[in-house]
Amino acid sequence: MEVVIVGSPEEAGRLAGGAITSLLANKPGAVLGVATGSSPLPVYADLGRRRQAGELSFAAARAFLLDEYVGLPAGHPQSYRAFIASELEARVDFAPGAVQGPDVADDSEGIPAACERYDADIAAAGGVDIQVLGIGTDGHIGFNEPGSSLGSRTRLKTLTARTRADNARFFAAPEEVPRHVVTQGIGTILDARHIVLLAFGSAKAPAVAAAVEGPVTAMVPASALQLHRHVTVVVDHPAAADLQLAGYYRETYTAKPSWQGL
Ligand code: F6R
Repeated sequence: MEVVIVGSPEEAGRLAGGAITSLLANKPGAVLGVATGSSPLPVYADLGRRRQAGELSFAAARAFLLDEYVGLPAGHPQSYRAFIASELEARVDFAPGAVQGPDVADDSEGIPAACERYDADIAAAGGVDIQVLGIGTDGHIGFNEPGSSLGSRTRLKTLTARTRADNARFFAAPEEVPRHVVTQGIGTILDARHIVLLAFGSAKAPAVAAAVEGPVTAMVPASALQLHRHVTVVVDHPAAADLQLAGYYRETYTAKPSWQGL
């Protein structure tokens, strides 16, 4: 696991945006895994700038959302599908239909079958090349709350009161935050070839330290990332505050050979 401590979320956005740009240059049909929430916003802004500058194209690429609320009316501005449409798709040049999210509509097939189909669709697209992730203050990734199976696949989950309170800032009233979500499982996330986890601000410091330096445990779902062969954790100084090896991570990154990339 590589930990990169940056001066600002914008710097993190440039770093992750650079990794995605290199991926697309080598593999125009790459598959991106996209998270919502505030942490990935600097990355999506950076990708938009690079698109405007003609540095990259998503025309042949695909993307899969990490998760989706269950129970919001279609097109609700806080649905994750709508969020990705406005924060990422509107800024770059994905082909129509190239961005897919879990199907949470209560259709005849039902949510469990739609979840299985979602994992199958990701696999059929060749798997995720770079997965962008945030982390919850309780250590969740996607919406895999503490106690989630480390081998889980895409499925229905119930949000904790803490996550609902954390996300209330996006809704008019706290009780509007849905209780249920469909999320890629931890096992689904670990199938991605490269995972870039972003965290900013002091509220994330305990979760980042537990995920990176604590034991691998279902109580801290992000700690499962320690089992993955290519994870980059990009944090600002406040989010890095509880890391015991912060000095070593800084030295390592400063001394990193330029050919290594992220
Ligand atoms: C979002 C997601 C969540 C968020 C996490 C952090 O798709 O799956 O795991 O990444 O809750 O949210 P922010 O970035 O808003 O602090």
